[in-house]
Amino acid sequence: MGRPQGPARTRHRIGHRLDTDWAQINFVTFFDKHIFICCNRREPGHVRGCCDPAGAEALQKAFKKALAERGLNRRIRANKAGCLDQCEKGPTVVVYPEAVWYGRVTEADVNEIIEQHIIGGTPVARLLMPEGEAAHKPR
Ligand code: FES
Repeated sequence: MGRPQGPARTRHRIGHRLDTDWAQINFVTFFDKHIFICCNRREPGHVRGCCDPAGAEALQKAFKKALAERGLNRRIRANKAGCLDQCEKGPTVVVYPEAVWYGRVTEADVNEIIEQHIIGGTPVARLLMPEGEAAHKPR
């Protein structure tokens, strides 16, 4: 038996740490996926920059619109997020439960992420944050 993948892997890792038998718990699943879009805004010239300098939440709105146009908005949630601590690589987007991190996402990328990843199941390679880059940086 191999390593558990996706949500099962997360439950396995957390369950192991807490010594909890997650198989005995009935989880409620409200959504199939969550797309978290950083809408954090900082003052101009901030050393780390920010994902939404205009403060318009345009990227999150584009994801919501794209999901609604495809009738997916009841199963897939596009949530505004505060800083995801990957500011230098933003605008930052992360998709759960698979924990796929995207960087430098623009509105022009939204349909590709929805079609290829959210519907098709294959993350958009050209937008992925390289492994190990998604790391905490001191403020
Ligand atoms: S401001 Fe978007 S990740 Fe920090």
